[in-house]
Amino acid sequence: MPVQVAIIGAGDRGNTYSRYALHSPHEMEVVAVAEPNPVRRESFVQNYDLADDKVFSSWEDLLAQPKFCDAVLVTTQDQMHYGPTIQALRQGYAVLVEKPMSPNVDECLNLIDTALETTQQLMLGYVLRFTPFIQKIKQLLNDNIIGDIRHISLDVNVAYWHFAHSFVRGNWRRSDLASPMILAKCCHDFDILLHLINQRCTQISSFGSLVHFKQDKAPPGSTEHCLSGCQIEESCPYSAKSLYLGENIGWPVSTITQDLSLEGRRKALKEGPYGRCVYRCDNDVVDHQTVLFQFEKGATATLTMSAFTKNLTRMIRILGSEGEISGEMEKNEIHVTRFGELTERIGVNPASFGLHAGGDFGLIQAFVKQVREQARTELQDFENIFMSHQLAALAEESRITGKTMEVNSRTGAPYNWLLTFGPR
Ligand SMILES: NC(=O)c1ccc[n+]([C@@H]2O[C@H](COP(=O)([O-])OP(=O)(O)OC[C@H]3O[C@@H](n4cnc5c(N)ncnc54)[C@H](O)[C@@H]3O)[C@@H](O)[C@H]2O)c1
Repeated sequence: MPVQVAIIGAGDRGNTYSRYALHSPHEMEVVAVAEPNPVRRESFVQNYDLADDKVFSSWEDLLAQPKFCDAVLVTTQDQMHYGPTIQALRQGYAVLVEKPMSPNVDECLNLIDTALETTQQLMLGYVLRFTPFIQKIKQLLNDNIIGDIRHISLDVNVAYWHFAHSFVRGNWRRSDLASPMILAKCCHDFDILLHLINQRCTQISSFGSLVHFKQDKAPPGSTEHCLSGCQIEESCPYSAKSLYLGENIGWPVSTITQDLSLEGRRKALKEGPYGRCVYRCDNDVVDHQTVLFQFEKGATATLTMSAFTKNLTRMIRILGSEGEISGEMEKNEIHVTRFGELTERIGVNPASFGLHAGGDFGLIQAFVKQVREQARTELQDFENIFMSHQLAALAEESRITGKTMEVNSRTGAPYNWLLTFGPR
């Protein structure tokens, strides 16, 4: 019998995870959807052959029903994770909720506390953990191949076109509508650093700002809209015409409209937010930010998020007492050098669908297994989930105030479950 799931939010991420039901129907079945957009909702009804009484236009309506399946996937926007997740947990569902868990750290704690009191089956959309790339690196570290970790540098290369799409014109452009950039984009990078270093972070500081995607950087000859008389449109790397009206109708083009014909896309650019000049939007999130970490046993780390890269990828370099590990996630290749020895190149295989170097597939597969086996989420995973949000919040506070933040100050009572692990 497949694990039966309900999807709350049939947007991009809801569709990505649901594809697992088409890929492995014996493992997972989509039995219900809650989605206000009628076109998206109807496409779910068709794709997953949903019964009329299992199709809802909001999460409130879906969760007003008595529990009717095994798990709920909460794939709504950042500020709409908390409500459906806490209610679904209270109704006894296992829940996969997209990242960030919530832009509010106290809400993250409430969710974890509720999971501990109820099903203890709460997973966060931390897809990076499930990439063969990170899993292999973790295994190499566990095998002590490079000795003790002294430093990790992690570069989050957002890519100029992706940044323009999501963080200038799109859903994550303003911290009041979504969350600060460092939380929206990088909460799972904080998680990866904690997962790999396996030490408590004691201090954090951060620098960054919005420098480029602002009115004062608008080139002469540019206009409010790419399709209405802009004189530099043809040479502008952010031209909506070149980003959205070409051959590609996959992600991210697929998110601007449900009608992906040329006419449909042109209409979406004219009427929606994605045709706007990137120098004249209502965005406020930073376009580059660096975070510095101090860990309790002396290790340090840096995390750099930047819009100004060609490729959308992550690059990591781990410096150990006996060697170093480096790699680029999207290339699925890891370089391992033990001091005094030749560099070994290790290839890893990405999984079969989704983005994030196989992480989308790996995560939904792991969630379904956890639900089937009624396995509980590890306490240490809960701690890392919480700490990743707290560190992102402190990094943002440091960026704004210019101060180095002490991390321990907010991790004592009443968060007793955080103290259950003792020193690591
Ligand atoms: N894990 C990752 O790597 C990753 C990657 C991208 C996005 N995300 C996160 O995933 C989440 C979803 O992103 P997305 O790109 O799929 O967004 P989206 O806008 O494509 O999808 C969200 C959907 O929720 C629906 N919705 C709105 N109100 C609702 C309600 N009351 N009840 C039910 N559904 C409702 C919207 O109509 C929309 O279809 C965001 O929080 C985002 O930050 C995570």
